[in-house]
Amino acid sequence: MSHIVDSISFGAIVQVRDRLLEQQAKGRKVLRLESGDPSFSIPEHVREAMEKALRDGHTHYTASTGIPPLREALFRKVTQENGLKVPTPDHIVVTNGGMHGLYVLFRALLEPGDEVIIPDPMWTEIGENIRLGGGKPVPVRLRPEDGYQYLPEAIEAAITPRTRGIFVNTPHNPTGAVIPRQRLQAIVDLANKYNLFLVSDEAYEHVLFDEETHTSLGSLPGAEERTFSVYSMSKTYAMSGLRVGYVVIPQKNILERVKKLVRCTINGVNSVAQWGAVAAVNGPQDATRAMAREYQYRRDVLYAALEKAPYLKPFKPSGAFYLWAQITEDWPGYQGARDDWSMTNYLIDQAGIGSSPGSAFGKAGEGHIRFAFSCSTDQVEEAARLLPQVLSAA
Ligand SMILES: Cc1ncc(COP(=O)(O)O)c(C=O)c1O
Repeated sequence: MSHIVDSISFGAIVQVRDRLLEQQAKGRKVLRLESGDPSFSIPEHVREAMEKALRDGHTHYTASTGIPPLREALFRKVTQENGLKVPTPDHIVVTNGGMHGLYVLFRALLEPGDEVIIPDPMWTEIGENIRLGGGKPVPVRLRPEDGYQYLPEAIEAAITPRTRGIFVNTPHNPTGAVIPRQRLQAIVDLANKYNLFLVSDEAYEHVLFDEETHTSLGSLPGAEERTFSVYSMSKTYAMSGLRVGYVVIPQKNILERVKKLVRCTINGVNSVAQWGAVAAVNGPQDATRAMAREYQYRRDVLYAALEKAPYLKPFKPSGAFYLWAQITEDWPGYQGARDDWSMTNYLIDQAGIGSSPGSAFGKAGEGHIRFAFSCSTDQVEEAARLLPQVLSAA
């Protein structure tokens, strides 16, 4: 029998990144559209708070669930901004990024063989963290003709006697689709009908375009007691390398399990990063808004380019910083292959452009490609200039 960890991949994006870095080392210019890491520096007041924390000697172990000022700041944020109804800051646990939050949550929620419904395509780490928790991810296909929406009817059709929960991600990685409130409410109603938990991944809550707004699943009627919400500082404050995220846990027994898991895995997030996070949450939010405006500009430039390019049918995202596109039937292929990897490989070899093959995000992602516009505006503009030419030459 194979070990549970043997079923986890090394990650397709890592493979693409390694190939790009190899090319870069040979002196070639590369454009880093493969992964979702914000190009921006952290806001100045966050950096200053971290410098002060170092000077003040905040370099010791912290409470493993997070420093009290951070949990209090997050409590204010999730109750006032997200509309969650947790009674005290004790229901919030600071984690080593949203990723670690997902790991501890699924580990705490699942028994061996429990099924969790997830969208397909989906950022790979979701299915992997469900498996690490002993569970089984059950994919529900998102279709281009539905605007890649996570449809309650499709979710209901995937429910079996082993289903324990539904995972929801809006704005969505990889498609950038945003789920409207009414549809989220229908998902909450399903969770109530079948007595399921909900895990709501809101890592991109502040990366929204046009007039789009974010609804937190846990704020909806009937969701309070059954929704476990995951947040991240990585995208909101460009703090990806500082590794701060947090989970909001309404149920006491799950909270206790998560506290134990956090103590035994990380025993508290880096203290200096936590002081930075306090400043980020309590301070002015204009840097977050400015980043969203810049992402929207990049989206528009890249979308216009992909609309002009042959072999791609792009989907216009309403949030997150990814452009998801279908590869059309007439794609001639590269090096004897016509799958999504062949386009990713072609773009690396011919133009040094990074992307992620859609199949990395699940079966429904086959025949798609994802471009991240979280790298610098210059790189996005250059990729937008090159992509129509390079693809026309295929
Ligand atoms: C959908 C989604 N959730 C959660 C995360 C977690 O990010 P982090 O661990 O940096 O907080 C990511 C990161 O890319 C993501 O795409």
